[in-house]
Amino acid sequence: MSNPSYRITGGKALHGRVRIGGSKNGADYAIAAALLTADDVVLHNVPDILDVRQMGEILAHLGGKVERFGPSSVRINCAGVAAWDVPASMVVRLRASFLVMGPLLARFGRASCPPPGGDAIGIRPLDVHLAGFRVLGADVTQSGDIFDVHKEGPLRAGRVVLDYPSVMGTLNVMLAATLADGETTIINAASEPEIADLATMLNAMGARISGAGTHTVRIDGVRELHGCEHRIIADRLEAGTFALAAAITGGEVELEEAVPEHLDALIWKMSEAGAEVETTDAGLRVRGRSGYRAVNAQALPYPGLATDLQPQLAAFLTQATGTSTIHERVFDNRLLYVTELRKMGADVLATGQTAIITGPTKLRGVPVRALDVRAGSACVLAALVAEGTTEISDVHHLDRAHEELDGKLRALGASIERT
Ligand code: EPU
Repeated sequence: MSNPSYRITGGKALHGRVRIGGSKNGADYAIAAALLTADDVVLHNVPDILDVRQMGEILAHLGGKVERFGPSSVRINCAGVAAWDVPASMVVRLRASFLVMGPLLARFGRASCPPPGGDAIGIRPLDVHLAGFRVLGADVTQSGDIFDVHKEGPLRAGRVVLDYPSVMGTLNVMLAATLADGETTIINAASEPEIADLATMLNAMGARISGAGTHTVRIDGVRELHGCEHRIIADRLEAGTFALAAAITGGEVELEEAVPEHLDALIWKMSEAGAEVETTDAGLRVRGRSGYRAVNAQALPYPGLATDLQPQLAAFLTQATGTSTIHERVFDNRLLYVTELRKMGADVLATGQTAIITGPTKLRGVPVRALDVRAGSACVLAALVAEGTTEISDVHHLDRAHEELDGKLRALGASIERT
């Protein structure tokens, strides 16, 4: 694989408008859901990024057809699905790959998949998914590294209590239960907006789901699902990253299509720090300034502050006066960015799951690595205000989640090139 990098020369305030693309994770979930029907599923606002392409390749491996058309649309047909196993080579980089399990189990009664890869951000167990499949009547076995799920006849509905409100655990059970016999209830479900968006899509396919987006989801099983056309919601994590980019540079940026209510926790913290964030007809406008205040924050399941935004918030807080703390409560290894920000001169320490950031510090351009997608975004934000040129290597991690990150930043006035 090529190893692209970004060269960013700091010191330019960002100004203008940027269009926020469709949700990376939401698109992956919708592509997996297309496995539930033999009809065409047409998705709009699908970002053209590595993760989404890889999810499409997994469906194609199983026998589905996935075709991109227009600026951001995808047509999927899973009438020809004739395989139920996903090889390790396809899942190693893509966490969302494990989401094919629920739909395959529901429609074909079997599925097998090795533990998925994804960012090295902590222990990422699957017990919540597997316990849910068992409640729905499936046999779950593990041979070597491969998980197999199997059920003769339709799944049976049940009451599934999640030990932890896992996002993909909730989704896998919800997807499987759409075709189960009877009404399934998921207690302690995750409530992320992408879950509600997927339920909207599934209901358009004929499913009967209520409560998605809250901690109790009810799924009244139906015999079969049909095709649909669905538009993926805006990526709240891309929006949050651009909001912080505008703020850290002291610029003013309007985020078109951002959904403010998906970003409440971030907006709250940014406002506490002194940034001006307001809702507009098009989305959200962020007006930065100098002289931010330190704040304390915790990354939590939604509607708390997204763990996927805490590294970027930490980069922003290097420019705030005083000592900020950010406590990561979702994953157990998500402070990797600390070493990279320190190389740039940031006064930031990791103790346990807490980052302690004292500012403001003058950051300087040095070589750093994008250790995972969000750690890489934190480096980009820091580089935008660093003195001199920062070279960020391993930006293939950023390509997984960001469509045209360098192009969008350049259009806002940043000095960034891809090498
Ligand atoms: N967990 C369990 N048991 C399980 C599953 C999860 O204990 O069976 C724990 C994990 O150990 C972790 C916590 O639950 O501590 C959260 O994990 P969750 O299952 O909610 O995360 P995920 O579904 O694997 C998705 C996104 C992540 C995002 C998290 C949290 C995808 C592909 N990934 O992961 O996105 O951080 O939800 O919102 O949708 C990213 O986009 O950069 C990213 C990592």
